[in-house]
Amino acid sequence: MGEFNGKVVLITGASSGIGAETALHFAAEGAGLALVGRDEGRLEKSAKDCMVKGLAKDKVLTIKADMCVEDDVKRIVESTITHFGRLDVLVNNAGGSIPCFLTSEDLMKNYDRIVKLNVRSVIQLTNLATTHLIASKGSVVNVSSVCGKRVMAGMLLPYNISKAAVDQFTRCAALELASKGVRVNAVNPGTIMTPIKLKYGKSEEEVRERASKTHPMGRAGESNEVAPAIKFLASNVASFITGETLSIDGGRHVGCAR
Ligand SMILES: NC(=O)c1ccc[n+]([C@@H]2O[C@H](COP(=O)([O-])OP(=O)(O)OC[C@H]3O[C@@H](n4cnc5c(N)ncnc54)[C@H](OP(=O)(O)O)[C@@H]3O)[C@@H](O)[C@H]2O)c1
Repeated sequence: MGEFNGKVVLITGASSGIGAETALHFAAEGAGLALVGRDEGRLEKSAKDCMVKGLAKDKVLTIKADMCVEDDVKRIVESTITHFGRLDVLVNNAGGSIPCFLTSEDLMKNYDRIVKLNVRSVIQLTNLATTHLIASKGSVVNVSSVCGKRVMAGMLLPYNISKAAVDQFTRCAALELASKGVRVNAVNPGTIMTPIKLKYGKSEEEVRERASKTHPMGRAGESNEVAPAIKFLASNVASFITGETLSIDGGRHVGCAR
């Protein structure tokens, strides 16, 4: 029996990349899982992969939902509580980016879309989950980015701002909930090889080549280097850690250009 046996973990963006890998890591520890995404096919694949790890069918709930639709976000918490009766860990992982410059004509449209997905939905879901997390003395792990701490100049302007907001939200929520027994932390990955990196025309080789130059450890990271850190922050091993924003970026946040 794993540490999370009998506990319930809700993961947004569980149909792909870091979220799907995180689901596998919690499944291996016996957690009940509520997996959220828009793509039903990929969400079901994530659920099946968790069952291959030994999780019973009734311990995996898939919820098709768009994080940018308020009623969908409400339904995520309602469905989780109806199915499992409790919530112990919330992993706010769903997110995205749109390449956009300060000079872009569609800057404000893209800013609104990114902030709605990366920030507003995170705050709304956490708001709705908080009473259940207080009841279970649970925890929250937000998936931020190195861009929350350091600026990737140019095209990621709305994304940089959104992830800085996620970091500050992590600290705000951690302070507010500390006395109620709920811990709130974040992970800040550098380049991690997931489908998000290939959305804007770059090949895997190009992404890896660039990451090898921008990350002091000389390479990109993998989802299975982020998921264990998320599980760690949610676990009892991290029982005195709250308000932390943990870099998982091969040292990228440490340096500066010269
Ligand atoms: N990969 C990196 O280099 C990197 C670096 C730093 C931070 N991050 C962060 O890590 C998180 C996960 O990204 P990833 O790299 O794993 O990318 P990914 O493989 O593209 O996964 C993104 C996930 O977010 C979900 N999602 C996106 N928009 C959604 C919406 N409107 N409603 C519901 N779900 C939505 C997607 O699900 P559907 O497609 O099924 O809707 C998918 O499961 C993001 O917050 C990202 O900003 C990634």
